[in-house]
Amino acid sequence: MSHFLEFRSITKTFPGVKALSDVSFAVDRGQVHGLLGENGAGKSTLLKILGGEYIPDGGQVMLDGTERHFTRSRDSIDAGIAIIHQELQYVPELTVMENLLLGHLPTRFGFVRRGEAIRWTRDNLQRLGVDIDPLARLIDLSIGQRQMVEICKAVLRDATVIALDEPTSSLSHRESEILFRMIRDLKARGKALIYISHRLEEIFELCDGCTIFRDGRKVAEHHDLSQITRDQLVQGMVGREIKDIFDYKPRALGEVAMTVQNLSGKKVPTPATFSVRKGEILGFFGLVGAGRSELMRLIYGADVRATGTVELDGIKGNITSISQAIHSGLVLCPEDRKQEGIVPGRSVSENINISCRRHYRRAHFFVNDSAEAGTAEGYIKLLRIKTPSRHQEIRFLSGGNQQKAILARWLAEQDLRVLIIDEPTRGIDVGAKNEIYQVLYGLAEKGVAVIMVSSELPEVLGVSDRIITMCQGRITGELNRTDANERNVLTLALPVSAPTPAAAPVTA
Ligand SMILES: Nc1ncnc2c1ncn2[C@@H]1O[C@H](COP(=O)(O)OP(=O)(O)OP(=O)(O)O)[C@@H](O)[C@H]1O
Ligand SMILES: [Mg+2]
Repeated sequence: MSHFLEFRSITKTFPGVKALSDVSFAVDRGQVHGLLGENGAGKSTLLKILGGEYIPDGGQVMLDGTERHFTRSRDSIDAGIAIIHQELQYVPELTVMENLLLGHLPTRFGFVRRGEAIRWTRDNLQRLGVDIDPLARLIDLSIGQRQMVEICKAVLRDATVIALDEPTSSLSHRESEILFRMIRDLKARGKALIYISHRLEEIFELCDGCTIFRDGRKVAEHHDLSQITRDQLVQGMVGREIKDIFDYKPRALGEVAMTVQNLSGKKVPTPATFSVRKGEILGFFGLVGAGRSELMRLIYGADVRATGTVELDGIKGNITSISQAIHSGLVLCPEDRKQEGIVPGRSVSENINISCRRHYRRAHFFVNDSAEAGTAEGYIKLLRIKTPSRHQEIRFLSGGNQQKAILARWLAEQDLRVLIIDEPTRGIDVGAKNEIYQVLYGLAEKGVAVIMVSSELPEVLGVSDRIITMCQGRITGELNRTDANERNVLTLALPVSAPTPAAAPVTA
């Protein structure tokens, strides 16, 4: 029986890297097929081959029984393939409508009026359950919303093959639910889907089967995920058993390192008060949009405060600006590390060694002495950053490995007192998460106070000594490690369900 979409013995080599060797698998209509593997295993490379961006060195791509040669993106699009890339590709100045109409414009809307185009866009977004203004510019949307626009574009193009590369990494819970509904609908309509994610629960929830890659080779293929356990998938990906990815050990806590008092700002209207101790890992849990990142930016002096103070032990007075914060050893590793941190044309080593302090002073000095080489080599090994050498330009690394390299920059920071780290393991594979936790434990051992913001509940429960929950711009609770469990943390972090219309009449 021939399959709808089939990869046969695909091979792709880059200088110094064998990205794919002899990879074969198939996807049929009405199926969602998962691709799994550690950072750098070759998943995105395979999608880029399907998308006509890379030409394979060997092997065949078969679609509906015939061999296809995609040599540019247009070929792949014309064949009915839509790819939602890990790195979003869009024109930020365009509106949502213009973006969705790209490609549709000449045929469907030859000379129609703008009003009609707006209506078409609004109707379609509504039908897909996406609540975004058609006239908003992409640049003004959240990363999650941009991702949703990209996904709607693929759906509206009526592609037969839809491949999604880590689509949920920046989506809110609600957005993910909308996406999952769309995926199920596409599947029911007979589309063939490929789904890449490091979140195994999503693989179980959405996929019919999956293929696991390791170092560019296919190491396993499963056709019935109900027969497979999570541990089996993890073992397949990392090639070893991971007993306890958190591996938490209690630490002795020191004095109070930082006190935040009555801090409020635009997106955190309710004043927040808490403190963190030396050697403590304090987890901040909440859903995307709960105000955690905003609170951290207020602490760091990156946003304008309405009220409140931030004081560090041993330092006189209120910390009010970024430069004051970093001089005092208070450092924030932002959520959107790539946008805020990467220097694409530079090497992995340079990207690790640009001090985030210097970074904020907007002065980059690239001095390649042996100390820097040592730091780079150390973190490449510690976090298992997959790169042919420290001299490789960072833009050639896989998405997750770029994340690791930029993270290393903050972890390598000297004279830290308080490290605020926002979503430390986003886009990072299961195996490497463990290594990142070990680095955080190591910093805490040395007396650094670590504040970890995360949307991953198991991570917050597994790593934190204490947990603070946030919801809708305010702190809603605090639990010690020993008292915290999934249920009570979630209860504190979820919005109290909206009042019924009868109780609170809707005023429009
Ligand atoms: N254009 C390129 N030039 C050089 N090397 C590349 C290029 N594109 C990918 N690679 C290398 O190929 C390997 C596979 O990368 P790929 O992006 O496919 O990984 P991935 O499985 O998607 O990882 P992640 O989970 O981190 O996104 C990596 O080692 C990467 O560094
Ligand atoms: Mg990738």
